Amino acid sequence: MLKLNPDIQEYAHQHTTPEPELIQELIETSDRELEYIDMLSGRVVGRLLNMLVKITGARRVLEIGMFTGYSALMMAEALPEDGELQTCDLNEKYASIARSFFERSKNGHKIHVNMGEALESLEKLEGPFDMIFIDADKGNYPNYYRQALPKLKSGGVMVVDNVFLAENVLDPQDEKAEAVDELNKLIADDDRVEQVMLTERDGLMIVRKL
Ligand SMILES: C[S@@+](CC[C@H](N)C(=O)[O-])C[C@H]1O[C@@H](n2cnc3c(N)ncnc32)[C@H](O)[C@@H]1O
Repeated sequence: MLKLNPDIQEYAHQHTTPEPELIQELIETSDRELEYIDMLSGRVVGRLLNMLVKITGARRVLEIGMFTGYSALMMAEALPEDGELQTCDLNEKYASIARSFFERSKNGHKIHVNMGEALESLEKLEGPFDMIFIDADKGNYPNYYRQALPKLKSGGVMVVDNVFLAENVLDPQDEKAEAVDELNKLIADDDRVEQVMLTERDGLMIVRKL
C-alpha cells in the first residue's frame, strides 16, 4: 500500500489550475474574518467539482453545506448561463460573506441560498438534480444521503466530502464517526449506485446513480 507523503498534497495543489481571482479573494477574506477556514474544501476538491459539472454537462446542482461560498462559486463557474445551483446553510455569518461574493461574481445569479436546517430545505427542494455535493454536518450524512439520492437524476453524480473524518472511520468512537462510517456502508451496499472512494485530503466519495 502506498504511504502518502504529506508534501504530495501541496504538490497536487500547486499542479492544479488555480481558482479565478475573485475566488482567491474569497479565500483570503474567509481567512481574515473567520478564526479558521479548514472547512473550505480547497483547490483540488474545488477544481474536481468544477470539472465534474463541465464533464457531465450538469445544469442543476444541489449543495448541502455552503460555508463562505467557495465550492458553490467553483461549481457555478462551470454551469451554463441558465444553470442553477441550490445551496443550503444555517450560519448567517458565513452566508453574509458568501452573498457578498455571489453579488460580485458574474455567476452569482445562478446561486440560490436556502437558509435553515438543510434537512428542512431539502424537503422543499424539488429534483431532479444533475449533481449533488454533500459537505455539511457529518452526524446527518446518512440522512442527507437518504433524502438527496431520490432527487438525483439517473446517471447523475453525487460527491461527498470528508468520508474519512480524519481517519476516525477506521475505528469510530463517537456519533460523528459512526454516522460517516454508516454512510460509507450505506453507499457500498446500495445497488442503486456505483461509487469510487478517493483518498484526496479527508476522503472524497464519488457516487453515480444507475
Ligand atoms: C464544511 S463546511 C462547507 C464548506 C463548503 N462546501 C466549501 O467547500 O467551502 C460545512 C457547512 O455546513 C453548515 N451546516 C452545518 N450544519 C448544518 C445544518 N444542520 N444545516 C445546514 N447547514 C449546516 C455549516 O454552517 C458550514 O458552513
